[in-house]
Amino acid sequence: MYLVTGATGGIGRTVVRLLREREMQVRAFVRLTSRYSELEHRGASIFIGDLRREKDIQKACQDVRYIISAHGSDNDSLSLDYRANIELIDFAKTVGVVEHFVFISVLGADRGYEDAPVFKAKRAVEQYLEASGLNYTILRPAGLASNLLPLAERFRETGLYVLIGDPKNRTSIISTDDLARMVIDSVTVAAARNQILSVGGPEILLREDIPRIFSHIFNKEPVIINPPLFIIDGLRSALGFFNPQQQKVLGTFRTLLANEFFCTPQEIANLERIFDFKLETLENFLRRYLAV
Ligand SMILES: NC(=O)c1ccc[n+]([C@@H]2O[C@H](COP(=O)([O-])OP(=O)(O)OC[C@H]3O[C@@H](n4cnc5c(N)ncnc54)[C@H](OP(=O)(O)O)[C@@H]3O)[C@@H](O)[C@H]2O)c1
Repeated sequence: MYLVTGATGGIGRTVVRLLREREMQVRAFVRLTSRYSELEHRGASIFIGDLRREKDIQKACQDVRYIISAHGSDNDSLSLDYRANIELIDFAKTVGVVEHFVFISVLGADRGYEDAPVFKAKRAVEQYLEASGLNYTILRPAGLASNLLPLAERFRETGLYVLIGDPKNRTSIISTDDLARMVIDSVTVAAARNQILSVGGPEILLREDIPRIFSHIFNKEPVIINPPLFIIDGLRSALGFFNPQQQKVLGTFRTLLANEFFCTPQEIANLERIFDFKLETLENFLRRYLAV
């Protein structure tokens, strides 16, 4: 039995779909408010709970052999990116039958970004998992291709693309399907065991390449709106007066906008060697999902 947290999220939903296509038993950890009917139809067993509650995590871990931690943090990094993962690791050890733990971290988790709670929580969990004695694979993805689908749909309608910060920053967008495949194969591929792997797509893109790809797909001239990064700084300072929690969340967002998140050609070659398949380009992913 696989336990998948974040089963209704971008990565988790794709992981559950792929596991069910392979006829694996899946327990999907969802909230009562989550949109989980698709997972149920695919034959996943639905576990309703909240990752902020230790008891729910304990119950969800009963009799599972593989744990895939793919949940997001809902603006509460301490409870969800950090504490929920620590508890998942602790209960995985207690139940004693967990053979492998896959943790979705983030590219750059080890760069020590002081102002980005998500990155700090991810690094702390990585270290805890490494020292846990469990078999693990830690995947550090760059941006997910599925995040771009709503932006592509808006582009299709309007031709507009908003790009905050430096258009020349480099990124390696990963196909969400390729990432899900790596997540699942991590539990069986020996070369992925007890590894931390940077995960990106096959090409290093500039952020300004994304509207160009949209333009190519839809055969439409892009109108790029490019506000400078200090807009976010202004917003953060203003928010600090009213909502310090939101100010911290914007810290992670700013870190994502202000820095480069790409994989080297060696890292990509390493991934393709370990998992034994060719990664798909962003354009290919978008064309498949947008049916163009
Ligand atoms: N998206 C990216 O580009 C990217 C890049 C690098 C790393 N990552 C990491 O990859 C992981 C998954 O990202 P994603 O984009 O697939 O996530 P996502 O689409 O934002 O989904 C987040 C998931 O977490 C669940 N969740 C949030 N709070 C919860 C709670 N209290 N109890 C139970 N479930 C809860 C959500 O459930 P609901 O459906 O109920 O909201 C949803 O299923 C995250 O850890 C993220 O940091 C993402």
